[in-house]
Amino acid sequence: MGGPPLYSQRKGHPALIGRHRPFPVTHKAAERWLQHMQQALDSVADIDEDSKIKMNNFFRHTAFFLVAGDELKNQNQGVACKHAANKPAAE
Ligand code: HEM
Repeated sequence: MGGPPLYSQRKGHPALIGRHRPFPVTHKAAERWLQHMQQALDSVADIDEDSKIKMNNFFRHTAFFLVAGDELKNQNQGVACKHAANKPAAE
């Protein structure tokens, strides 16, 4: 939204799916998270409506991107990748 890239400067690429890997980001968790974000946005008077809508759209899109990542993680558990057949399993 035009702000300075502080997070990336401090921590590098967001890599959100990787950073959320330890947590179960389910559909239910995403809806709850979105509710909290909505409440947080509603509690700030000096953000204009248009920016709130843009942020909410981004949050919803990204939250379900993470749910998809979580579902993929669960599907792949215990399934060896054919390219890694001769390598030790990653953690
Ligand atoms: C969909 C539901 C989500 C859940 C349940 C969730 C949960 C979590 C949890 C448990 C953490 C770790 C907090 C800690 O270490 O104390 C975290 C970190 C973080 N989340 Fe989420 N998250 C969700 C969605 C999102 C979305 C949509 C974004 C971005 C728009 C986001 C951005 C972040 C960031 C930047 C961090 C910090 C990562 C780091 O620097 O280590 N999260 N989240």
